[in-house]
Amino acid sequence: MAKKSEGTGGKLVTVSIVGLSGTEKEKGQLGVGKSCLCNRFVRTHADDYNVDHISVLSQSDFSGRVVNNEHFLYWGSVSRQHDDSEWRFEVLEQTEFVDDACFQPFRVSKTDAYVKRCVSTKIQSAEKLMYVCKNQLGIEKEYEQRLMPDGKLSVDGFLCVYDVSLVPGRSWEKQNETLAAILQSIIKLKKPVVLVTSKNDEACEQGVREAERLVQRKEFKGCIPIVETSSHDNVNVEQAFILLAQMVDKAKARIKVANYAEALRIR
Ligand code: GTP
Ligand code: MG
Repeated sequence: MAKKSEGTGGKLVTVSIVGLSGTEKEKGQLGVGKSCLCNRFVRTHADDYNVDHISVLSQSDFSGRVVNNEHFLYWGSVSRQHDDSEWRFEVLEQTEFVDDACFQPFRVSKTDAYVKRCVSTKIQSAEKLMYVCKNQLGIEKEYEQRLMPDGKLSVDGFLCVYDVSLVPGRSWEKQNETLAAILQSIIKLKKPVVLVTSKNDEACEQGVREAERLVQRKEFKGCIPIVETSSHDNVNVEQAFILLAQMVDKAKARIKVANYAEALRIR
C-alpha cells in the first residue's frame, strides 16, 4: 500500500480524469463520479471529502478563476510512494459545465465535442486556480489559492471513469459508445489508460459486465486494465492512480489490485 506524504517530491505524473460528461441528456440524472474520484485521491482527509461538486453553473462562476472559462478543473498535486517509487501527481478533470440559465453547455472558443476535447494532452490555462470545493466559487480568497503550474500541463496518462451503478436517464449503450470513442483516441495517442469503474458500492451486475466487455473489444484487448473503485467507501482509488503511474513509467512490476469485494474486505 502506498505511503501518504504531503511533500512535493517524486517523479511528475500528470493524470487526466475523463468519462461521460455533459447535460442530463448526455449523462443521465447523475455524473459518473469523476470529481469524487479526484476529491478522494487529492484530499484524503475524511472531512475534506464532498459528494456534491460543480456541474451546473452561473455565467459568473464559469468565468471566475477556478473554472476560468474552460471545461476542465485543476485539482492540484499530491505525492505518493509505493514500493521504492515516489510520484508527484498533478490531477486534472475533463468535464462539461452547463449554464444554469439555458441548461446547455457553456460555449467556449474551442468548440470540439467532449470526446475529442477530453483527450488533449497539452493543457493550458493562464492563472487558473486549483478547485477545492463547490463553496469556493465566488469566495476564492477564503480558500488556499494555488495556481496550475506555469499555466500549462502535459498529460502523461488517463483514468477513464465507467459508472457501474444504474442511473436514471442513461443507457449502457450511451456510456459504452462514448467511452469506446474516448478509449480509441487515447490508444491512438499511445498514452496509458486505466478503466476505473466507479460507484462499486452501488454496482449493478450488468454495469460490471458491460465494463468488462468494453475492455475486451478486440481494438483494446490486453492493454486496458480495470480497477474497481468506490470513492464514497475509499476503495481502490489510490491503487488506480499508482497503477497508471507504473504504466507511465513502463514499470515491469505492477501493484496488485484486488477486485472490489476483496479490496473492501481488506481495506
Ligand atoms: P460531472 O463532472 O458533472 O460530469 O460529474 P462527475 O463525473 O464529476 O460526477 P461526481 O463526482 O460529481 O458525482 C456524481 C454523483 O455520483 C454524485 O451524486 C455523487 O455523490 C455520486 N457518486 C460519486 N462517486 C460515488 C461513489 O463512489 N459511490 C456512490 N454510491 N455514488 C457516487
Ligand atoms: Mg465533475
